[in-house]
Amino acid sequence: MSAERVLSGMRPTGSLHLGHYHGVIENWVRLQDNYECLFFVADWHALTTQYDAPQNIAQAGRDMVIDWLAAGLDPEKAIIFQQSQVLQHAELHLLLSMMTPLGWLERVPTYKDQQEKLSHKDLSTYGFLGYPLLQSADILVYDAKHVPVGEDQVPHIELTREVARRFNHLYGRTPEFEQEVIAALKKLGATAKPYKELRQRYQQEGDHEVLGQAEAFLAGAEVLSTADKESLWGWLVGSGKSILVEPAALLTKASKMPGLDGQKMSKSYNNTISLRETPEDVAKKLKAMPTDPARIRRTDAGNPKNCPVWQLHEVYSDDAKKQWVTEGCTSAGIGCIDCKNAVAEGINVVLAPMRARAAELAADPEKIDRILRDGAQRARALADETMARVRAVMGLTG
Ligand code: TRP
Ligand code: SF4
Repeated sequence: MSAERVLSGMRPTGSLHLGHYHGVIENWVRLQDNYECLFFVADWHALTTQYDAPQNIAQAGRDMVIDWLAAGLDPEKAIIFQQSQVLQHAELHLLLSMMTPLGWLERVPTYKDQQEKLSHKDLSTYGFLGYPLLQSADILVYDAKHVPVGEDQVPHIELTREVARRFNHLYGRTPEFEQEVIAALKKLGATAKPYKELRQRYQQEGDHEVLGQAEAFLAGAEVLSTADKESLWGWLVGSGKSILVEPAALLTKASKMPGLDGQKMSKSYNNTISLRETPEDVAKKLKAMPTDPARIRRTDAGNPKNCPVWQLHEVYSDDAKKQWVTEGCTSAGIGCIDCKNAVAEGINVVLAPMRARAAELAADPEKIDRILRDGAQRARALADETMARVRAVMGLTG
């Protein structure tokens, strides 16, 4: 079992903007150097809310992948694929659906929220209710330990943990597991006795302090292998053998990237700068940005604190430039046009290489095909390892 796997997915949104880049993708690009990473296009997830308009899902997915790569995701480092090309996600979703209480899904906060927010759509569907469980399957099918997500997705990771725990509880107490526990206890020799006592205290009195002590005990027990430790832990908490790995959310800091109107950058607010924006369009968009309302005339002094352009300087400008803005703005020494040109320069430094890479990739659709095909193949191989364990304990060996 891989120790440190990272997985995340994104619905196919088409080409990305700077908010996506600074919020999510920059983080993924960092992670791919330190973990075994899987990143996928959640096209089945798109259908849970967009089942009535599937026409553009495929293209939106490809455009998104082009921008992932343009922004620095590297198929040599991370596995990049499309969810619908790895049927094991669907198989695990089905099997998990057998043992997931309906109430758990009805209680997921996004269920009611989204239904209300998207009230123009009929979302009282089976697929929509079940989509957090599909997400659980996405994660569990790879034994992913870390799941980089935003705050809004944390309840889905919590659900995933509960589902994994329930699964291990139901299917993890196999006869082989008993044997493994006996063998591990034997290795402990004389120190087995205090560990047994810890278990008794936990199981009879539900004493949660015991968990910390047990954890410390196992961490220090050098005679035990990692597998032994896992077995003894499962034996103590009563979960049995760990067949599915409980993941943890790796919280992505909310992006500080403001949109062109000072609100959060988002397609639905129509205030974005896309990763493939030309320098001319960046200049045009900035020109239309509101500034500190106090600067009616060029000779009126302003305050960057009251200006959305300043927030862009906070992301793109070095200290010297920021000082130039603050002094120039508050003394009316510079005009807003100068100030906007200065930030446009910084934005273009970031965008220029991405734009070039995206253009190259967009002109080579076969390369995208190849990357996604290869990614799906590698993903399937990993998913199959988990599914072999899952099928076996659920009585599905052929
Ligand atoms: N539900 C996530 C979103 O809307 C996308 C997603 C699907 C995901 N499957 C995932 C994220 C698995 C992390 C892990 O943003
Ligand atoms: Fe905003 Fe810059 Fe104009 Fe000041 S000078 S109001 S910070 S655009």
